[in-house]
Amino acid sequence: MSVKKIAVIGGGTMGSGIALTAATNGIEAVVVDISEEQLSRAKEYHKKQVARAVSKERMTQEEADASLAILSYVNSLDEASDACWAVEAATENIDVKKTIFKHMFETFAEHVVLATNTSSISITDLSSAIPEAANRVIGMHFFNPVPVMKLVEIIKGKETSEETTNATIALSEQMGKIPVPANDSAGFVSNRVLMPMINEAFHAWTDGVADPEAIDSIMKLGCAFPMGPLRLADYIGLDVCRDIMMVMYDGLEENPKYLPNKKLVELVEAGHLGDKSGQGVYEYGKNN
Ligand code: 3HC
Repeated sequence: MSVKKIAVIGGGTMGSGIALTAATNGIEAVVVDISEEQLSRAKEYHKKQVARAVSKERMTQEEADASLAILSYVNSLDEASDACWAVEAATENIDVKKTIFKHMFETFAEHVVLATNTSSISITDLSSAIPEAANRVIGMHFFNPVPVMKLVEIIKGKETSEETTNATIALSEQMGKIPVPANDSAGFVSNRVLMPMINEAFHAWTDGVADPEAIDSIMKLGCAFPMGPLRLADYIGLDVCRDIMMVMYDGLEENPKYLPNKKLVELVEAGHLGDKSGQGVYEYGKNN
């Protein structure tokens, strides 16, 4: 059975990307965020992306208008309560997510799947916030930029039902994505592999093996990465990278190999978060 309307909780980079991907695949999407500024940014991003798709002839003007018409933006979860699917894409912090999940449980009908776009947090831990509905909680991990990246990493918690899993696989396909399962271990597969590589790139930089430009060029030209690991860290957000590494450190027996590099932590503490703050490993112009 196809999904008609999804609620996306969190209007940041990932949330707005998920909503756009839903809408361009014919699924009504409501973005929920307490910040008006975040909602306006999401709306602008949606307009800009469909206009680009039209100019590139990947979409007709009618299709673009139809996509924008099924996107909406609201400040409270209550205004999205008629959705038949919910996906949380808020800050990577377990306490924040648990509070949101309790609210999601109270808001949506009892058949609604309560998915999370967490990058690293245990689904079983998260679902302990709503034991009555743990069978409806699942990890639905998208990748940035969501409209472009094909993967959805699907993570079942201990209590996640087969029905929830099958419905999540079906929705991912309805959104034009390829779902691939991973077990519920900190960082799952994607970040378990990606984050140590990013961290090692920082170590190579701070150990003086090469400067950031050279590290990124070597990995792009020699290993066929679309972006070098330091450029990618800025793109993901250095704060997000640090948070994911700490979730892995805590969740994987405090193995020091997952501890974030000192330089990475210093940049975050100085507010240099990457593309979104205009400075990270690299400096960016206003339009990056
Ligand atoms: N939203 C929508 N579409 C976008 C986009 C965005 N934010 N950014 C780029 N695109 C589209 C462009 O419109 C363009 O499409 P077109 O050719 O049809 O017009 C296409 O992507 C290519 O974009 P560009 O030509 O501007 O630039 P590049 O060719 O350099 O590609 C990139 C940009 C797709 C971001 C590419 O550099 C890339 O794949 N980088 C690696 C991204 C990656 O690894 N993501 C995963 C991060 S990890 C993660 O998300 C997990 C989390 O838990 C941390």
